[in-house]
Amino acid sequence: MTDEHNFPPKPQATAESLADPLGFMEVEHAWHDAVTRWIEAVLDGLENRPIQAEAEVMVEFLTRDLPRHIQDEEEDLFPLLKERCGNDSSTKAVISRLSEEHKLDEDLVDFIIADLQMIAANKRVPNLMRFFANASGFAENQRRHLAWENQTVLPLARKSLTEADVKTLARGMAERRGLSVE
Ligand SMILES: [Fe+2]
Ligand SMILES: [Fe+2]
Repeated sequence: MTDEHNFPPKPQATAESLADPLGFMEVEHAWHDAVTRWIEAVLDGLENRPIQAEAEVMVEFLTRDLPRHIQDEEEDLFPLLKERCGNDSSTKAVISRLSEEHKLDEDLVDFIIADLQMIAANKRVPNLMRFFANASGFAENQRRHLAWENQTVLPLARKSLTEADVKTLARGMAERRGLSVE
């Protein structure tokens, strides 16, 4: 299904790739950006063709991959950053803005998933325009969110996290993926 629909190939987490957890986050961000563009392209063709099979891969991304990535940030990266740079008001503001966006995305994603599950089951969604608006809004939010994380958060983390912090982050991310790192 993945090849048939050109869904961007998923980065594979390994003990080696997670040894550089910030590098792996960057790789996941590049993938999220590709997925976002793919979703936009699918939405562009929405009125002309069915998207039943594509809906299934979107559901998997939204229910599994993205929430896990958000957990990496909320449970490991952001707390570590707050510990190192918590006194800096602009850092605090950026982190709380991104956390807010994670929560808003969760709400939006719930609506999108409900519609996608209907599409995947070949049922009519109650309001196709609402689905389109939610999915387009999500894609737009993602782009802005990714830009902030790539341009501000990851460079700051590279500068300020200690070696022990990086290991803590790597361990948390590995655990969520059923792996272990030293
Ligand atoms: Fe992220
Ligand atoms: Fe994020």
